[in-house]
Order: sequence, then structure tokens, then C-alpha cells
Amino acid sequence: MPVAKTRQNDLLTQKIEARTARIGIIGLGYVGLPLTLLFSEQRFAVTGFDVDEKKVAALNAGGSYIVRIPATEIRAAQGSGFRATADYAEIAAMDVVIICVPTPLTSFHEPDLSYIRNTAEAIAPHLREGQLIILESTTYPGTTEEVLIPILESGNRLGLRAARDEETAGFYVAFSPEREDPGNDTVARRDLPKVIGAAGPVALELASAVYSTIFNRTIPVSTPATAEMTKLLENIYRCVNIALVNELKQLCQRMDIDIFEVIDAAKTKPFGFQAFYPGPGLGGHCIPIDPFYLSWKARQFDFRTRFIELAGEVNTAMPYYVIEQTAAALNEHAKALKNAKILVLGMAYKRDVDDLRESPSLTIIELLRQRGAVVSYNDPFFPYVGQGRHYHLDMHCVPLDDLGQYDCVLIVTDHSDYDYAQIVREAKMVVDTRNATKGIVSDKIVRC
Ligand SMILES: NC(=O)c1ccc[n+]([C@@H]2O[C@H](COP(=O)([O-])OP(=O)(O)OC[C@H]3O[C@@H](n4cnc5c(N)ncnc54)[C@H](O)[C@@H]3O)[C@@H](O)[C@H]2O)c1
Repeated sequence: MPVAKTRQNDLLTQKIEARTARIGIIGLGYVGLPLTLLFSEQRFAVTGFDVDEKKVAALNAGGSYIVRIPATEIRAAQGSGFRATADYAEIAAMDVVIICVPTPLTSFHEPDLSYIRNTAEAIAPHLREGQLIILESTTYPGTTEEVLIPILESGNRLGLRAARDEETAGFYVAFSPEREDPGNDTVARRDLPKVIGAAGPVALELASAVYSTIFNRTIPVSTPATAEMTKLLENIYRCVNIALVNELKQLCQRMDIDIFEVIDAAKTKPFGFQAFYPGPGLGGHCIPIDPFYLSWKARQFDFRTRFIELAGEVNTAMPYYVIEQTAAALNEHAKALKNAKILVLGMAYKRDVDDLRESPSLTIIELLRQRGAVVSYNDPFFPYVGQGRHYHLDMHCVPLDDLGQYDCVLIVTDHSDYDYAQIVREAKMVVDTRNATKGIVSDKIVRC
């Protein structure tokens, strides 16, 4: 029935153009919620799906749980028809469904696709013909074809298949990676080119039509696996380059050269060099995790991804390096790490974000405590830090006063609200892992 099929996708294209297509976003976190707002701004009625009832309730009450998304934006989206739900039965009413659920690692450092699987199993029974399903979660090449599509095909009540051409009845499937860079406002979301790989030309056309409403440029690639690999290349590129400067930082320190001065000089080269900066270790949902998705998949092809493994080794050793440097700095003051009072500045994994995931601060605090230090922290984004998948801290944020009581103030996250000159003035000693004290001259500062 090719004519009927043509009508199905024509109809969806028309609905997208007229902004009457119903958009469902699954996973209302750091990726899904901003995406929801982009569609709402374009007057689409968006339904957000999340298993976290607290998030659903907060959003439906017109509130936000992500610092950089003000509640006013949620209320504006509600004006365009946005609402949140935990009820997957509503999938049937959607024309486009975009999946933005987590893709972490297991405790064995292997891909944990349980969130994608659970989501696929939950939506499969409600699928109907002509719907477009897009996966945005970062994952290894092959996930869309080998995991998502088979679950959607086997789990739906109507026996639908992924429609790879106009002749097949079914639903359409695509993969399009997210390129969010939290805290970076230099590029407007709309200006981020959107890479799309789809299962067949019709799905590609539809996914491009959807994303063209919120992004200025779409980049079609030949397959979902190509799009999945593109995202991993982008993140591995960062991971490897950060490892390189983290290693050079340690060498520079022995050679009494300032690595940050070196990078600033090198980046004046107008071609062939991109600046990456060393730090206390990787953090966030992406860079410490995603490369291992590829290492794991590579094993299926009897291939070792040595760059990824080496970068992982260097980067995961960085918090230990910070501990060593802090111990050495205290030693200079005839002080042991054991019983030393240490204030860690910054819990978030990077400047000015309210995201703790994989933050090096968590590891550093645990390592300091294991060595007997008495640790406090300050972070304007986190009044309390309890326990997560890999940490158990149970700590409250302390005020930034009476800094003289600490043997060491350890800067792990360089939030821009901190007054570093004042911190250096008041502290006995400052260990700076981020070059936050650049330009401040004081023998109290140890840069590492
Ligand atoms: N955060 C980033 O900067 C970033 C950037 C690029 C790509 N990504 C990728 O995007 C994906 C999502 O990341 P995130 O940072 O938004 O994660 P997140 O943890 O902030 O949000 C995920 C949301 O999904 C919900 N969820 C989990 N299982 C669900 C299910 N079965 N059904 C419905 N909702 C479910 C969670 O409750 C949570 O609200 C990941 O694959 C990540 O690698 C993240």
C-alpha cells in the first residue's frame, strides 16, 4: 500500500510544518528539559515523560529543578501546551518521540543500557503507525539498530516494524546525538548543527524536518551507527586531549614551567591547535563515560582502543595527583594530611553548573577523608551532598568565612562567583587545580 504510506509521512511532515505535531520527550533531565523548551518556543505542544514522579510534579506545578532553567521558562512552555507525565499510555497520542534517558556505566565499567531498554519496552506497546522515534542518548554504534529497533518491533501490539522505505508500514526511527555543553553560552542552542542518522530515507527526512524547526542546520549522515560514532568521536577527542594536557601539566610542574602560560601561548597559533585545559580530573555525564562505550563495543571486533584506555588511565589518576600535591604543600608547612583541616571549593564537576555527576571533587574528598583529613566544602549550587552511585559523603556546605581556620583551601571547581583574591588573602594556603588564581601573586598559592 505505497500510497497510504506516502500519506502517513506526508501527514507528519505537514503537522511538523504547521506545529501541530505532538512531541513527546522521554527523560526530562539536563538534555530532555532544554530540548522540551526549544520545541515549546516553536509553539509545539510537548508532553514530557519521566519515571521520576517528583520531577513530573515540579514541572506540572510550573517549577524547575535545573538551576539554569528558570521556572518562568517552564510556565511559558505550559502556555504552549507543555505538561509532564509518568504515564506511557500517552505515547500513543504523540507524533514524534525523542528519548533522552541516561547511559551510564555499570560497576564493571561496561555500558549500562538498562535505561534505553526500559524506555523502549515501556513505549513499544503504545506505538502506532507513522510515529517517529528518535534516540538522543549517547551510546555505542549499533545501539539503535541492535537494541532499540528490535525491542520496539517485538514489543508493540500491532506487529509494526521499523519502516525503512515508503513501502513498509510501521514507525520511523532515527538517532541524533545531543551536543549540550553545560555552562557554555558562547553558541546559541539553535546554532548547534544537529547530526542525524536514520533507519531509511523517509525516517531521515522526517527527523530532519523535526529538528529543522529548532536548529538552523541539520547534518544528515548515512546510518544511525554513523551518528552514534560521530558523538563518540567528539567526546573521545576531548577526553584524549584533556589527558594530554593533564600529563604535560605534571611534567611542566617538575620542570618549573607554567602549563597554562604554555597553552595560552600555543593557542595563538591560528591553525592546527585547539586549547584544552588540565584540571583535577574528568567529570560530568559524558567525557569520563562515553569513551568506554566504544572500548566495550570494540572488543566485539577484537580491537583494542588504546588511546581511550591510556587517556582514561591518565585522567582517572588526576584526583590522586591532587592529593599528592596537597600533601606536599602541607608538608612545606610542617603539617601532615592526617587531621589537616581542608576546605574544598567547588563540588560541581565544572564551573557554574549544578551538576555533580562524576565530579572529581567527590573522589578528592573521599581520598582526603581516607587519609585522615578533616574536610569541609563550599559550593553555591549544593547546600548538601548525600550519596550517589559512587560516593557517600553526607556533608553540608559551609559558609565562606573564617578561611584562616583551614590548613588548606583546595580549589577544585573554579566557580566564577568566588572572589579569589579575597580567598588568597584570608586563607593560610591555597592549592589551585584550575588556575583560578591566575594573576594573583602570593607565596600562599600552590598551583597544581
Ligand atoms: N548532560 C549533558 O551535558 C549531556 C550532553 C550530551 C549528551 N548527553 C547524553 O544525554 C543522555 C541524557 O543525559 P542527561 O544529562 O539529560 O541525564 P539526566 O540524568 O539529567 O536525565 C535523564 C532523565 O531520564 C529519566 N529517566 C530515566 N529512566 C527513564 C525511563 N525509563 N523513562 C522516562 N524517564 C526516565 C530520569 O529520571 C532523568 O530525569 C545521556 O545519554 C547523556 O550521555 C548528556
